Amino acid sequence: MRKATITGLGKYLPDRVMTNHDLEKIVDTTDEWIKTRTGIEKRRIAADDQATSDLAYEAAKEALADADLKAEDLDLIIVATITPDMMFPATSCIVQEKLEAKNAAAFDLGAGCSGFIYGLSTAVNFVESGMYENVLVIGAEVLSKILDWEDRSTCVLFGDGAGAAVVSAAEEGGFLATDLGADGSGADTLYQPAGGSRTPASHESIDNKGHFLKMEGTSVFKFAVKTMGKASLKVLKKAGVKKEEVNLLVPHQANTRIIDAAAKRLKLDDDQVYVNLPEYGNTSAASVPIALAEAKEKGLVNNGDKIVLVAFGAGLTWASAVLEWNDLK
Ligand code: ACO
Repeated sequence: MRKATITGLGKYLPDRVMTNHDLEKIVDTTDEWIKTRTGIEKRRIAADDQATSDLAYEAAKEALADADLKAEDLDLIIVATITPDMMFPATSCIVQEKLEAKNAAAFDLGAGCSGFIYGLSTAVNFVESGMYENVLVIGAEVLSKILDWEDRSTCVLFGDGAGAAVVSAAEEGGFLATDLGADGSGADTLYQPAGGSRTPASHESIDNKGHFLKMEGTSVFKFAVKTMGKASLKVLKKAGVKKEEVNLLVPHQANTRIIDAAAKRLKLDDDQVYVNLPEYGNTSAASVPIALAEAKEKGLVNNGDKIVLVAFGAGLTWASAVLEWNDLK
């Protein structure tokens, strides 16, 4: 059977660094509270003139170079994001134009922080079916522009960034299984109330701060702790891989307490779990590809390694994947 594997990775983080101490000057919070409750120490913030497609483009260029491919080799571009440049057209089309990927179809994918792994699963199925050779999956967010900078319960958690992966055909290794899930009953625990067809943008919606991200932190936290371990074990079972065989877990970076709970379910040591949350905060759909690209740069991802990717997010959604690293180089 034709397999699919990751042949290139890229990431982009905006230059501006905002520390917890910087946040102490904006809202009633402390470095100590943020560090102990979340593990976050800093985050990156996009420049005023940077939109999601600009970050996505930078990460995409790096992933293409890493895969040794030209933009015209791409058959499809998927951008996973909850902060598109605008409601329409799709941010992926804007990225397609910037890359001059003239042979690529393009669409966006909205699955919150699980969006990148949802995108990978979609790419894997397109490649394995024989429909496409090379699919570019990007997770990119400029969350700083939908945060309420007066709400200490949300603004301290998130950051901006982009990560990208090229998924191409392979004869062996690569993706062994992916698994996706959703529970729309939690849709109102993490959402942006206004700006869509339910509550179109108006003076009133702006006054009510409806264009900002809203979250019930505690219920999302409980859901995440339950889901991350469960989704990891389910995809391993599907792939026929034992948890003892896992070399590296690359989880969505939202909260170290959530990551620790998932690692415990898989009985992994700290050095088998990639964590960059202190540096970048929660970058939503960008968090898993940024973490995977960084882990690869640091020499933590080698051919033959079994790697688990897992995320949860707005929707509510969850997604997991297990792959045997085989970048064909
Ligand atoms: N600084 C200081 N105090 C704060 C802050 C802050 N930044 N934020 C909240 N507090 C206060 C609260 O007001 C509360 O005070 P009270 O007890 O007087 O009412 C107290 O701290 C405790 O608040 P909790 O919300 O109970 O704290 P908790 O331990 O649950 O941690 C957190 C909150 C970090 C948000 C946690 O619930 C969490 O990580 N949730 C998951 C969030 C997440 O990962 N979301 C991303 C999903 S992915 C996506 O798709 C975008």
